[in-house]
Amino acid sequence: MDGRETHESNLPSETEGIAAALAERLAIGDVVTVSGELGTGKTTFVRGACRALGVEGPVTSPTFTIGHRYRGRETNVSHLDLYRFRGLSAAEWGDLEPYFDGAIVFVEWPEAGEGALPPARFAVRIEHRGGDARIVSIADADPRVRHGD
Ligand SMILES: Nc1ncnc2c1ncn2[C@@H]1O[C@H](COP(=O)(O)OP(=O)(O)O)[C@@H](O)[C@H]1O
Ligand SMILES: [Mg+2]
Repeated sequence: MDGRETHESNLPSETEGIAAALAERLAIGDVVTVSGELGTGKTTFVRGACRALGVEGPVTSPTFTIGHRYRGRETNVSHLDLYRFRGLSAAEWGDLEPYFDGAIVFVEWPEAGEGALPPARFAVRIEHRGGDARIVSIADADPRVRHGD
């Protein structure tokens, strides 16, 4: 993919399916940012990707910890949520860094990490379109971040 692709979703399961398709294109070291207002389906999207990567058990917002690290079929998967952050101090980045080690990483509310996070392979943005309708756009965030495919 080059540039941006846009999907319509009318159900949580459809958002999970869009995420599952993206997951097939990910490799260890890839960072995927997931942006959008509260309740748009960021965690739902990450859950769909995690399922496709073979993560079993609950995939929920890392509200009381800085992040979750899951074991997938072939890869580790990290799930970060930077909602509570306003920028990242060196100490905070030090806490986050291990999650980027040997894993595919999903970051909700990535805005706080701008400039500190490694460059994203894909940037996902989800928008409300009334009721259960959502627009899910996926941008190839940084063309330099590739795995030779
Ligand atoms: N098309 C859709 N895609 C994703 N979530 C949806 C959709 N329609 C309704 N929902 C609901 O919206 C909520 C999204 O919650 P969540 O994924 O936690 O959002 P966020 O992480 O963006 O705050 C869930 O309750 C989900 O069931
Ligand atoms: Mg969330």
